[in-house]
Amino acid sequence: MHTRIYKLEYNNIDGKMIEEAANVLIEGGLVAFPTETVYGIGANALNENATKNIYKAKGRPSDNPLIIHIANSNDVIKYARDISKDAYKLMNKFWPGPLTLIFKKRDIVPDIITGGLDTVAIRVPSNKIAHTLIAKANIPIAAPSANLSGRPSPTRVKHVIQDLNHRVDVIIDGGNAEIGLESTVLDVTADIPIILRPGGITKTMLEEVVKEVQVDRALLEDSNHQIPKAPGMKYKHYAPKGKLIVISGEENQVIEAINQWTKEKEDAGDLVGVISTYENKSKYSCKNVLVIGSKYDPNEIASNLFRVLRKMDDRSIAYIYTQAFFEEGIGIATMNRLMKAAGNKKICL
Ligand code: TXA
Ligand code: MG
Repeated sequence: MHTRIYKLEYNNIDGKMIEEAANVLIEGGLVAFPTETVYGIGANALNENATKNIYKAKGRPSDNPLIIHIANSNDVIKYARDISKDAYKLMNKFWPGPLTLIFKKRDIVPDIITGGLDTVAIRVPSNKIAHTLIAKANIPIAAPSANLSGRPSPTRVKHVIQDLNHRVDVIIDGGNAEIGLESTVLDVTADIPIILRPGGITKTMLEEVVKEVQVDRALLEDSNHQIPKAPGMKYKHYAPKGKLIVISGEENQVIEAINQWTKEKEDAGDLVGVISTYENKSKYSCKNVLVIGSKYDPNEIASNLFRVLRKMDDRSIAYIYTQAFFEEGIGIATMNRLMKAAGNKKICL
């Protein structure tokens, strides 16, 4: 398949290109586009064949349901039913933005979208290009992250091209995905909303709008035996090709341990990399040190995680060492993705 690449300027979006991309979606094709979280690969959510092609293009298991993206939050009632007061409050506050809500679904939503569940995931992206495209197509757009299944989610168009060139009709080059981690997934079908996937909208932010929010027990550290309620969370995900090793403990000890292990590996002839904050970069002796951001800026660390993991792959690094990052605010989502990329193992010093 030939993939067309449309370069759009965020502050001056070319109407003709948007119209062409929207027509591709209307006609059942696949369009990869930027959102504020990560790039997505979109198809008409009401067209089963088009949606099937998403799974094919990604190589994704089809029991893993997709998020429906809409441009206008009023459209939510077309696809969801039994919407609670709390859910409306959350929509008012956080849409458009990086919050996906899980509702009871209406019959119009095909089973292929929901993996056979009786619930549906919906969000309104705030990225202007995504928003303009969905509004123009005027259909609900199913869009998982635009990576091959299992690989780190794409935050740059370059990553999308690496994974999906010749697998989709159009890739929209619309600059970098700002947040860099996928949306928070929140189940609002029960009395107390439950976070199924942590993201940029944190528990504290949600609890400023509704009284109480729970966290899916499968996300808590001591609960390896729990099956996550978001089907996507059970797969090995976000993983670089090399082996990722996460180390937690007192910072200087962690650095010392990483220096010792990277030296051993380098001496044995392996390609080794370290993910570091700006502040610690000069303390590592390894040849390949990639900076993820400032230790004082958790948003910067979140936004660079997937990019840094992919860069390690570009350099064919076989062993990647990183300190564990501070688990507060968006740091919880960063560590959730990092731990999944590391096969949920961490060395505690
Ligand atoms: O930020 C995002 O959400 C990005 C951008 C492109 O919008 N999309 C994204 O989609 O991350 P995806 O398909 O990679 O992840 C969707 C997550 C999966 O963990 C999936 O299992 C969960 O949402 N999900 C979807 N429908 C669900 C449902 N009905 N019940 C529970 N979890 C659901
Ligand atoms: Mg994904």
